[in-house]
Amino acid sequence: MKLAERLLLENKAWAAERVDEDPEFFSRLEKIQTPEFLWIGCSDSRVPANQITGTLPGELFVHRNVANLVVNTDVNLLSVLDYAVNHLKVKAVIVCGHYGCGGVKAATTNHDLKLVLNMWLRNIKDVYRLHRQELDNIKVEGERVDRLVELNVIEQLKNLAKTSIIQRAWKEGQRPELHGWVYRLSDGIIKPLLEISHDSELDPLYEYDDL
Ligand code: CO
Repeated sequence: MKLAERLLLENKAWAAERVDEDPEFFSRLEKIQTPEFLWIGCSDSRVPANQITGTLPGELFVHRNVANLVVNTDVNLLSVLDYAVNHLKVKAVIVCGHYGCGGVKAATTNHDLKLVLNMWLRNIKDVYRLHRQELDNIKVEGERVDRLVELNVIEQLKNLAKTSIIQRAWKEGQRPELHGWVYRLSDGIIKPLLEISHDSELDPLYEYDDL
């Protein structure tokens, strides 16, 4: 059997199970999607958004990339954000990182990972630089990387708040709430780190005053 055929067989079994449990499952989802959440997570295969939050198809709108970055020139992420906020009208956006993130760890080394990864991971080195004093004082390497994982989530969440997409939605509809979380691979538990909402204070440098 070819490698990918296993997935197609599993898919048939999964679809049949859903219909057994709930005959309307697919016909209901086919008509409309009304997720309340946008999930921005790491591409890591061990952090599947729906499974770890116990949510079903239709409940999460999902964007994943290496190390859950919110880069303000990333047309892919911004399209997802725009659609989720302005068309799906999600009530919350979650940035979820995870301890033991390979992308974050790689950014703490000086290895040349060649053009594209060097470019992407540079964003995490910039987070390190912003928090250099705190991070350099953590002598155990694993602990330092885990703290950088947390600080990376916090910075990416702040990057969301800097976008005009979010600021306009706050002004017009007082949503979405922004949540920064970190997932622990060793026990499957998510720890909340930071919440930003329409009444939070923003760095005035990034605040649009004519939206
Ligand atoms: Co990761």
